[in-house]
Amino acid sequence: MTVTELPKIELHLHHEGAAPPAFIRQLAHEKRVDLSGIFKPDGSYDFRGFAHFLEVYEAACEVLKSPEDFRRLTLAILEESAANGVVYSETFLSPDFCGGGDLHAWRDYLNAIQDAADEAERKLGITLRGVVTCVRHFGPEQAKASARCAAETAGDWITGFGMGGNEGVGRQGDFAWAFDCAREAGLRLTTHAGEFGGPDSVREAVRELGVERIGHGVRAIEDPDLVHELADRGVTLEVCPGSNVVLGLYDDFASHPIAKLRDAGVKVSVSTDDPPFFHTTMRREYEMLHKAFGWQAEDFAAINETALSAAFCDEETRARVKKRLEKT
Ligand code: HPA
Ligand code: ZN
Repeated sequence: MTVTELPKIELHLHHEGAAPPAFIRQLAHEKRVDLSGIFKPDGSYDFRGFAHFLEVYEAACEVLKSPEDFRRLTLAILEESAANGVVYSETFLSPDFCGGGDLHAWRDYLNAIQDAADEAERKLGITLRGVVTCVRHFGPEQAKASARCAAETAGDWITGFGMGGNEGVGRQGDFAWAFDCAREAGLRLTTHAGEFGGPDSVREAVRELGVERIGHGVRAIEDPDLVHELADRGVTLEVCPGSNVVLGLYDDFASHPIAKLRDAGVKVSVSTDDPPFFHTTMRREYEMLHKAFGWQAEDFAAINETALSAAFCDEETRARVKKRLEKT
């Protein structure tokens, strides 16, 4: 079996960011919205750098305006993930894009997303869980509304809370209220740090927000003491190498620090972030890591085991997914 065929666990996937461009174009056509400015002539998303990526992302969200849109989107995402061998996935959902932070609207969106996830599980055997994310550049007040939505719908399916968005805005600690609210509701915690922010942003995330996973976190490599701290604390990094290369953090996979972090004892997992934006898939991530570092099936099996241990699902789900990993 080649490494690309292995069953895979994905922990870091933005729901809207996983929307295929053709899917967004179709919705724009149905709703008579002109989104031509966000696509290249070849049909892919058109952006230059991270700030512009976030603008294009939010423009695409302009046509995702109803629970039914999200039901269709969820099916499209899970078909693609299952075709890539993903057996368990966690997706970042933002109440900001699902009803604007209003709890009643959020429940409607969530019901539609869960319906689609149930259908995909029956038909394709892929398991999905949701992590509610606030958007950093929308500010701490809006983050509180997201945290309240998360807390009110916490349970078997909404299992975590996190933060995405522009790391250049504010500090992690500004969002402590939202993270405390989510923690008190029993949610597990992750946040984007150490992607555009340096090692201090990772330290802040761990110490001030008390997260157990970090989205990216790769710039921790710039500080050996922090690398030790992450290894000692058993923090799992949700590493998205292809995303980091496209956004210009590293020149190529071979220069990416994922192997160095792993060799230093840091728990690493592998994800795609916003796959169509970054021209990647889970298969491609595995293929590129195999080529860059010579990682073999046993390396990916260990990475999937790490990812599954750090997944925010309940123990029964974890055991069921573990059996699927072991079968192949
Ligand atoms: N990084 C940070 N925030 C995001 C992203 C991302 O890749 N996608 C959507 N919000
Ligand atoms: Zn991300």
